[in-house]
Amino acid sequence: MEQILAACRAELERGGAVVALTGAGVSAESGIPTFRGKEGYWTIGSREYHPQELATFEAFERMPWSVWAWYLYRRGVCLRAEPNAAHHALARLDAALSGRFSLVTQNVDGLHRRAGSPDARTYPIHGDITQMRCAADCTVERWPIPEEVGDVPRGEDVPEAWQKLLVCPRCGGMARPHILWFDESYDEPRFHFDSVLRLARRAALLLIIGTSASTNLPWHVVRLADGVGATLVDINIEDNPFGDIASRTGGVVRQPAAEAVPALVEHFVEYLGHRVG
Ligand code: APR
Repeated sequence: MEQILAACRAELERGGAVVALTGAGVSAESGIPTFRGKEGYWTIGSREYHPQELATFEAFERMPWSVWAWYLYRRGVCLRAEPNAAHHALARLDAALSGRFSLVTQNVDGLHRRAGSPDARTYPIHGDITQMRCAADCTVERWPIPEEVGDVPRGEDVPEAWQKLLVCPRCGGMARPHILWFDESYDEPRFHFDSVLRLARRAALLLIIGTSASTNLPWHVVRLADGVGATLVDINIEDNPFGDIASRTGGVVRQPAAEAVPALVEHFVEYLGHRVG
């Protein structure tokens, strides 16, 4: 661990940009299932629906209210969850690094924001489960799902009264969850694609937390940051492909995020404090 801390201190000393890339593992200790873990949404989901089948625009066109029911069920799980020590530690790191820290998250649960990570430096690259947008893309704007739309228990239908509220405020047409689906592509206005690539190219220290390296843009982020000589640290309870890359520069920490991230941030803040003091 000392070797990892020394590598991180050296980057902090150089004053470069720090980026955190988070996945479902950072919210696991808040009680939100991951996707590919034993009780993961895709692992469990596969008994009823194949993930590619459910989380797609194609499925939404074919069975919009089944897809809405699934996301309103998951939204309920996220709204009942609380940010954990890892979310709070990353918000603290943002404050300590005043402007040179950015947070790229694959999570749609909104827990980073609720922990205090500022929207200006937080990039949700797979959307936000509390938001909706026009299903016909009459605009790229998105809106909070109305509060009157409550929680749909798993396997139940969306009540008609709520269906009437899930409309685009601009064109009056159907609204859809603001989520990046498997048959869709990243872009800038909805998913911060170009902004996140820019961050990766400027990163000096990249903290990779709780992801299985299963989606596209995170691979770009890790490869670009590694390519510009950034120090990479992978925090995960299991080995994963990003850990193999990180082991060449910073290293890997095989501990739960809610334990490892606060400890790392405490070390950074203390070090920065001594530097300033
Ligand atoms: N602390 C740290 N890591 C953890 C913890 C924990 N407490 N619990 C689980 N993990 C790790 C797992 O070992 C795994 O590597 O978190 C990772 C979760 O992996 P996935 O379930 O695949 O989630 P993620 O990597 O975020 O998935 C990426 O795939 O399906 C899409 O859009 C969805 O954003 C999601 C994306």
